[in-house]
Amino acid sequence: MWEYTQKVKEFFLKPKNIGEVENPDAVGEVGSIVCGDALRLTLRIDKETNRITDAKFQTFGCASAIASSSALTELVKGKTVDEALQISNQDIADFLGGLPQEKMHCSVMGREALEAAVANYRGIPVVVEEEGRLVCKCFNVTEEKIRKVAMENHLTTVDEVTDFTKAGGGCGECREEIETILRDIWSLKLPEKQAKPKRLTNLQKIALIQEVIEREIRPGLQADGGDIELIDIEGSKVSIALRGMCTGCVMAGVTINGVQEKLRELVDESIVVEAQ
Ligand code: FES
Repeated sequence: MWEYTQKVKEFFLKPKNIGEVENPDAVGEVGSIVCGDALRLTLRIDKETNRITDAKFQTFGCASAIASSSALTELVKGKTVDEALQISNQDIADFLGGLPQEKMHCSVMGREALEAAVANYRGIPVVVEEEGRLVCKCFNVTEEKIRKVAMENHLTTVDEVTDFTKAGGGCGECREEIETILRDIWSLKLPEKQAKPKRLTNLQKIALIQEVIEREIRPGLQADGGDIELIDIEGSKVSIALRGMCTGCVMAGVTINGVQEKLRELVDESIVVEAQ
């Protein structure tokens, strides 16, 4: 059983803005009944001010999908189109007091419907999802969608991607590919590897660790506003500190693992990196 907040229950049992705006100025349709969730969002937009004056939805899906769609319509009403586009899937979940982690894909569907409706209003052709490279055949999820949702929501595991997109939640055949995509998104931006010298003396090892950090690791972190400081080297234990944007970053654990992998690859397989 899922643990739903009072607000989710309220928006599921008595959804607001259900139905369809008559002669809508914008229509956003996402999902597919075959895949278990579908949402049609219709908007009335004042063309003078670009303000959304009415919003309605029709949803096929579970309690969370209905509550998320209803929450979305409440959130967008009264906002300009540009203001509405600032609403993230997390905002939809937050409005409802949170969603079960496994149901976050319902908030993602809401955000996608909003993007589709705005694109429709602006006359921008919506890129049909199926045209992207399909990764999950069970739920029709493309690589582009996995990358976008993972980056927007800082997802680092395949299970998290499944919670937010459903990809990987069926036969499981695509899970390895999702893992590869996640590694590609979050790995350190490092140049190609260089040859690893053999049988290093302690002094050579320390010098090489310093060199690898300076040449191979620091530039990648600095490019993203972060930095790394080498604190100490004791045997195979390398103590570092993350600086700048890396400090307190939710991806710090992934970064530290990346540093360790790089030092193991280029210096010594027994290296253990610890962050202070
Ligand atoms: S192909 Fe993704 S779960 Fe089956």
